Amino acid sequence: MSSSYLTSNPTKPLTHLDLLAMKQRGEKIACLTAYDASFSALMDTAEIDVILVGDSLGMVIQGNSTTLPVKIDDMIYHTRCVTKTCKRALVIADLPFMTYATPEMAAKNAARLIQDGGAQMVKLEGTKIEIIEFLVAQGISICGHLGLLPQFIHQLGGYKVQGKLAETAEKLLSDALAIQNAGATMLILECVPADLAKQITEKLTIPVIGIGAGKFCDGQVLVVYDMLGISAGKRPRFSKNFLADTNSIESALKNYSAAVKNGEFPTDEHSF
Ligand code: KIV
Repeated sequence: MSSSYLTSNPTKPLTHLDLLAMKQRGEKIACLTAYDASFSALMDTAEIDVILVGDSLGMVIQGNSTTLPVKIDDMIYHTRCVTKTCKRALVIADLPFMTYATPEMAAKNAARLIQDGGAQMVKLEGTKIEIIEFLVAQGISICGHLGLLPQFIHQLGGYKVQGKLAETAEKLLSDALAIQNAGATMLILECVPADLAKQITEKLTIPVIGIGAGKFCDGQVLVVYDMLGISAGKRPRFSKNFLADTNSIESALKNYSAAVKNGEFPTDEHSF
């Protein structure tokens, strides 16, 4: 296949290099979670750049109160559903709770997400430098995740904004740099003050995608059912119901993508 074919083909799958180039050009990256083939296809049409098969499926699909009960087989099943119809977006799959406690476990489970699920990248929570280095050495693309870590909920004691104190903010910045130096190619920052997310985004050369992390990140991610207003319970402050102003899921997804790309979402109202 010639490179001119690849560069002229609008449905060519995006790679982490395309996302890196977007950061360098100052173009915002639109990302959403998806768990099935129908949403995945709609997101491709809406030009969502990254689809995250998040372990949030434990809450929004399985009805649990945390992400902790999610198993690797659940993640593989939903990742496979998503990758069957996704032609353009880069697909990231979460390594769920306790599936990456050692480098060997992490490699075995990440390989299943890639080989059986079809993911291009895997995401893991926390500053697991040894694990990230080991996976990167096996050729696995890694997305880090810092700030509010849902898999650490019992240690955190609640879904709270992280990095509000000078000390914790400094630690988050140095952890983000360590994750990048370990070879990660993307970072998700969840529920941190917008000013801190700005600093981290400017310091890092890899794309930083925010959720509840303000408007200065290189891109944004939301849980799709939150941004359609159909998740059970109260809408998180950092989310917005994009279905409220339109009459179809397809246009809600398109409006979200456009709002992220033109800098209209998030506003201060969705930030900490
Ligand atoms: O599991 C998930 O959906 C996530 C996002 C909230 C970033 O990790």
